[in-house]
Amino acid sequence: MLWKFALASLLLRHTSSSQARAEQKPVTLQHNKPPNIVFILTDDQDVHLSSLDYMPFVRKHILEQGTYFNKHYCTTAVCCPSRATLWSGKASHNTNITDVNPPYGGYPKWVVNGFNENYLPVWLQEAGYNTYYTGKFFNVHTVENYDSPFAAGWTGNEFLLDPYTYNYMNSTFQKDKQPPVSHEGEYVTDVMAEKAYGLLDDAVHAANKRPFFLTVAPTAPHGNIQMNGSALDPDHTLEHTAPIPAERHRHLFKDVKVPRTANFNPNHPSGANWLLDLSLQNRANIEYNDHFHRQRLRSLQAVDELVDSLIYRLAAYDILDNTYIVYSSDNGFHIGQHRLQPGKSCGYEEDINIPLAIRGPGVAANYTTDIVTTHTDLAPTFLQMLGIPLRDDLDGRPIPITEPEIGEEQRTRREHAGVEYWGFAGGEGIYDKSLHENNTYKAIRLFGPGYNLYYSIWCTNEHELYDMNADPGQLHNLLSPSSLTSTPPSINGHPIDKVVSRLDALLLILKSCAGASCREPWKELHPNGNVWTLADALSVKYDRFYEEMVKVEYDFCDNGYLIEAEGAMWETHGKMFWREGLRWDVWT
Ligand SMILES: *[C@@H]1O[C@H](CO)[C@@H](O)[C@H](O)[C@H]1NC(C)=O
Ligand SMILES: *[C@@H]1O[C@H](CO)[C@@H](O)[C@H](O)[C@H]1NC(C)=O
Ligand SMILES: *[C@@H]1O[C@H](CO)[C@@H](O)[C@H](O)[C@H]1NC(C)=O
Ligand SMILES: *[C@@H]1O[C@H](CO)[C@@H](O)[C@H](O)[C@H]1NC(C)=O
Ligand SMILES: *[C@@H]1O[C@H](CO)[C@@H](O)[C@H](O)[C@H]1NC(C)=O
Repeated sequence: MLWKFALASLLLRHTSSSQARAEQKPVTLQHNKPPNIVFILTDDQDVHLSSLDYMPFVRKHILEQGTYFNKHYCTTAVCCPSRATLWSGKASHNTNITDVNPPYGGYPKWVVNGFNENYLPVWLQEAGYNTYYTGKFFNVHTVENYDSPFAAGWTGNEFLLDPYTYNYMNSTFQKDKQPPVSHEGEYVTDVMAEKAYGLLDDAVHAANKRPFFLTVAPTAPHGNIQMNGSALDPDHTLEHTAPIPAERHRHLFKDVKVPRTANFNPNHPSGANWLLDLSLQNRANIEYNDHFHRQRLRSLQAVDELVDSLIYRLAAYDILDNTYIVYSSDNGFHIGQHRLQPGKSCGYEEDINIPLAIRGPGVAANYTTDIVTTHTDLAPTFLQMLGIPLRDDLDGRPIPITEPEIGEEQRTRREHAGVEYWGFAGGEGIYDKSLHENNTYKAIRLFGPGYNLYYSIWCTNEHELYDMNADPGQLHNLLSPSSLTSTPPSINGHPIDKVVSRLDALLLILKSCAGASCREPWKELHPNGNVWTLADALSVKYDRFYEEMVKVEYDFCDNGYLIEAEGAMWETHGKMFWREGLRWDVWT
């Protein structure tokens, strides 16, 4: 038992600045032990507002010791649907968890749709892992419904529950099968840090000596929500304000402002649909939004300290080198770009391009890769890291984590991220809290040699195309009626409508894909395997095939994934055309 005392006194002496000592400790490599995973999942954390630049411990322990994936995308840019995708390994059109609240989303729908018995932690347990979770799990996982049923798959849990999930100073946690406990007046991330350290201790001391998977899911830098009434009551009201930092971080970053990129509060409206009606933000609004931004960065400081302490503990337990540490967020965030108030749920780069960093056995240190990865890839990635067989019904493909694997995938990995959304968008600041209806769209983000594109179709059947090599801020929609006259004639030497015909067919596949057809969508269109990339598909011999292919369109706007609203589907209209209209073997 002596070593336990030694560890305890070591941990007691630990402060945030003492991590260097831990990393200097000689490390015993545990080659014959299966690896562990610690997954840190923040909420609404951006890439494009530079939040990672303000997290020195995440940089030092994870980015500098691991690999950063700078083209990582969420596929549905809002909390609950994105988490459902992450935990099930399926795109939102396959989970049909498309909103944060019932009837289209939330924990009750997750359970009804059968995922509580069939998702990542359940598979990990079946494969011999102990699984632990603290933090936000799903929206509408509440003090009333947490036990009906209990979330399956966790060896130990300390869930944050609604209606207090986003309440930084009045959280409620629920441990294992016990009743919820209120932490009124305590700072939520610090409470969660203690829970995380406790779960790590449980994992290390588990009697069955199994390897572990531990998730820590802080709410920062999400806004603070004071919810009035039950989250289960559709009439509940809520007050959404800037996130609240820990007292010790309130004074930081007084001069920091939202980066003034070209798309920040632009002089002309940009985007499509309801975004075109947004007005220019006045000075008071901008100052408030800069404050909102600083509160986000301040709220992330307690997360940064939590990461530092977790690393310190893993090192003290001598398991750091045998543990993968994965850092990501459920979705991104915008403040002021395209004149938007603070929020998410758009398809633009700020909302969908999100942090992903991984360190661990075999992972290249201080390395950045630009292979395209998405949240549908995370479940297969976790399985592959732990040597657990993949399941064929997963919509994603494992993310390569060693340098040779990344090099290989640079040649073969798909070029796109498929993006989808149904329902509303809402501002989270104090200026304009209105809900924007008809925020239903599908999109593709695509990178290839000479191509850096975003293509989207809204439920109003408006189209967008941005050539992001020329227009990284997505300010010039090449398909807007007004720009059609002044549009440059081509992208990478190809007429725009030719490029669009290919992107549209790819989107037709992606909008209803499942399993293999999500992983290799071009193969649906070209089963003989001649086409793997946009560049391949642009061959003149396919011009007529793509011109005549049915197009993606909506029949009407709805807040959920209703087949009746979704227009032509590949399985019916597309394949029919492909078989009968133009025999594919002639064209492919
Ligand atoms: C804090 O949460 C508890 C329930 O956990 C509730 O009874 C109390 O009213 C809340 N306090 C405030 C100030 O909202
Ligand atoms: C909170 O709920 C009470 C009772 O339902 C209501 O009277 C009050 O106006 C609500 N407050 C807010 C801020 O929504
Ligand atoms: C990481 O790489 C950067 C340059 O790419 C270098 O300046 C820095 O010193 C490196 N850090 C470590 C810990 O190796
Ligand atoms: C949303 O779209 C529907 C058509 O699908 C239309 O009837 C309705 O007016 C639109 N609402 C707004 C606010 O634009
Ligand atoms: C998705 O769920 C909604 C609400 O339960 C339902 O109306 C809709 O038909 C479902 N969509 C599909 C494609 O199953």
